[in-house]
Amino acid sequence: MPYASSRRLFADFLARPKSNKAEPTKTGKQTDRHNLLVYLGLLSGYRGAFGLIFLTACLTEILYLAVPITTRHIIDGVLMRQAPAVERRSELIFIGIALFLMLIAAQAIDFWRRFYTSLVNGRFVRAMRLRLYTHLMNLPLGKLHELKTGGIVSRLTSDAENLTGILQMAVISPGVAALRILITFVILIHWHLPLALVASGFIPPLVYISLIYILRIRPIYRSVSNDRSAQDARTSEVFTGIRAIKAYEMHLVEKRRYNTGQALMFRKNIHASLRESAVDGIWNFLIPMTSLAIMVFGGVFFLKGETSVGDLVAFQMYSGMLLYPVWRMVFSLSQIQKSLASLERVLDMLALQREENPGILPAPEVVRSLEVQKLSFGYRENIPVLRNVNLSMRPSHIYAIVGESGVGKTTLIDLLCRFYTPSHGQILLNGRNAEDFELTAYRRLIAIVTQDAILFDGTVGENLFAGEADQDGTSLTKALQAADAGSFIAELPEGLDTLIGERGFTLSGGQKHRLTLARAIVRKSPVLILDEATAHLDTISEQKIRSHLGRLKRGRIVIIITHRLSTVTHADQIIVMGKGGIEATGSHRTLLKRSRTYAKLWRAQ
Ligand SMILES: Nc1ncnc2c1ncn2[C@@H]1O[C@H](COP(=O)(O)OP(=O)(O)O)[C@@H](O)[C@H]1O
Ligand SMILES: [Mg+2]
Repeated sequence: MPYASSRRLFADFLARPKSNKAEPTKTGKQTDRHNLLVYLGLLSGYRGAFGLIFLTACLTEILYLAVPITTRHIIDGVLMRQAPAVERRSELIFIGIALFLMLIAAQAIDFWRRFYTSLVNGRFVRAMRLRLYTHLMNLPLGKLHELKTGGIVSRLTSDAENLTGILQMAVISPGVAALRILITFVILIHWHLPLALVASGFIPPLVYISLIYILRIRPIYRSVSNDRSAQDARTSEVFTGIRAIKAYEMHLVEKRRYNTGQALMFRKNIHASLRESAVDGIWNFLIPMTSLAIMVFGGVFFLKGETSVGDLVAFQMYSGMLLYPVWRMVFSLSQIQKSLASLERVLDMLALQREENPGILPAPEVVRSLEVQKLSFGYRENIPVLRNVNLSMRPSHIYAIVGESGVGKTTLIDLLCRFYTPSHGQILLNGRNAEDFELTAYRRLIAIVTQDAILFDGTVGENLFAGEADQDGTSLTKALQAADAGSFIAELPEGLDTLIGERGFTLSGGQKHRLTLARAIVRKSPVLILDEATAHLDTISEQKIRSHLGRLKRGRIVIIITHRLSTVTHADQIIVMGKGGIEATGSHRTLLKRSRTYAKLWRAQ
């Protein structure tokens, strides 16, 4: 196995073109504008709220900006004035109290604004997440397979969160910062133009190093965080599959992979923090330098009689207050980049076509027939999995579908469940096109047990009823019996209330399958499909289940897919599938004589 050291990987990382390192989004100006319009549409319900947030933010800014002016007045107008001390003292106290009240008011408004902002943002994220979640749930199966699970989760968590940032970052924060900068400049220039220039002279270098930080250093941290999530995903995979790791002695390889990942992150972190220290250093140097410049130049102007002591102090205060908004504005620029990328991903996802659900008919009371007519389907173009499949099924019959793995048995079932749309042909329910029925109503007619037992963290009962109302004792007992699940559930410490853990890990493979089988039976649907559901069961369990099938099939269409032919010899009809479709149908005996494939499968077991 070719093995890249972390040193090599790090060199590669540094050698990548700069524009690439920033991992920019593919967002073009055009789509950005379009996306922003859609975004504003999403936000339209919050217009008033955001307006209020902006106004209150401006109000507090103005209140805070009054502090240096008042200080200047205290120094020049009160302390330096030739007047009796008593008079000046009462004026001082008066100003002090007024300023104190103003600061309290500013804090109170600010406090309310922060609370209200998180309230509005929280509501927006919540609405957005719900919308995304609902949309995702209704995407067709094929699309969901394309989106990786991790991708879906991060769309719902971080991307949805980042969206709230856009308005904040793009409009509110820079707007407020610009207001502060503008007012400060007007005041400073009004007082003394040359000194105003001295005080603002540090802004260009400040912008420059902020840009360096954002364009050069933050991307490195972002890359580290990407590395980390990749490694976390791998780690969780490794520990989920720890059996295979131990059995195949993969721990050395995995350890090395882990170590390389860690070393690479370490190198990137050190590299970034070194640069960050340099930027910090320049920042920290610029601040006292500005103070010094104001003192020296201001002092010169003072000696010339152009400025007062109050001016110098107020200038110092304002120059300090300018730092933050300048940083804020530059920072906003980069945040917007990130948020726009999130916005694009979220909108892309929302633009995905939902599952087709053209039907409006309610589900029929009784299922009399389920037919497949000239059905063709392929996952990829020009690679058909099913070609011209015809099938007719009636209640109170057991249909067995057999065939080598990969011939399309599960695919046929997925089409019956309307998880996919056929490319040609149709499925008929009671003689009507299945697509005429409302999708969820149609799916309620079918209970399916899939190849892999899918269970969720919760109690046995929660999994068993899967959102259905609890059932009365006898029908439940019968269902559990039919699935051969009654005895093992009874032996669990808390019966139906026993917690089964993530994906049911506290149950054995066979128990999981019996539980999923019971879940399907409890549903009392007129169509019951077992897709290799008994493959993982021992022969005794399987026999028990088979003995109940005669009763289960009453009034039901039962479809059993299996490669264990012994299970299906008693089926009313056996359907033999080969590459591309149905090869033969009939009973066990006729097929043994007539179908070569069937005979081969029978001999092979
Ligand atoms: N989601 C999918 N995307 C692309 N190809 C698929 C997908 N699912 C199954 N296939 C392919 O379709 C064929 C039939 O698969 P499947 O119906 O699962 O077979 P069976 O259940 O008979 O073992 C296989 O060749 C398989 O590789
Ligand atoms: Mg299958």
